[in-house]
Amino acid sequence: MVNASERKYVESLFPAISEIKEKDLREKVANAWILAWKEGNYDKIEDISWCEWWSDKYSWSNVDHTNQVTSLAITVAKFAEETMGMKVNKDVLIAGAILHDLDKAVLCDGKTKKPTDWLKKMPHGSYSAYMALKVGLPLDVAHILASHTAFSVQRQKTVEALILHMVDYLTADLRNFKEGVEYMFSQQAPHYVELP
Ligand SMILES: [Fe+2]
Ligand SMILES: [Fe+2]
Repeated sequence: MVNASERKYVESLFPAISEIKEKDLREKVANAWILAWKEGNYDKIEDISWCEWWSDKYSWSNVDHTNQVTSLAITVAKFAEETMGMKVNKDVLIAGAILHDLDKAVLCDGKTKKPTDWLKKMPHGSYSAYMALKVGLPLDVAHILASHTAFSVQRQKTVEALILHMVDYLTADLRNFKEGVEYMFSQQAPHYVELP
């Protein structure tokens, strides 16, 4: 399945993985990345683009984006705990942050850059949630992945999912400002379908 040197590779790409206190959770996060990468068609995880299908607009790597989102998520968790007196499960939040765009490994073919059926037929976040559960991560981690966009079917139901959703959009739009890309994710009005 996944060996120790493969897990070390993931840890080198996403250093915040070391901030997950529970060893079992750390290993499962690394396992998910390795399995998704092997299922995709990229030579290296760092070759995966944040947005392959709009590569004319967005050129940054998914690893960079993921580390930026994780860093901001940790900052906001600290704020929520220390300033607002809220309880945040940081293990779940960091695992969710590192895996929130896991499906970028399979949404496009790494060689042809063509969209796969995962992009054409399933909502963003589906594969990530499926893989998280497949490696045995808790439902609350899968929930973060499945609910992290404004077009997710399920609205964020936990503090950790809400933090991740907001910091993901803020990070993406800060990058858009920095690079002068006019499209702004924060203009997207969420249109959740409310489920019980
Ligand atoms: Fe995403
Ligand atoms: Fe993202």
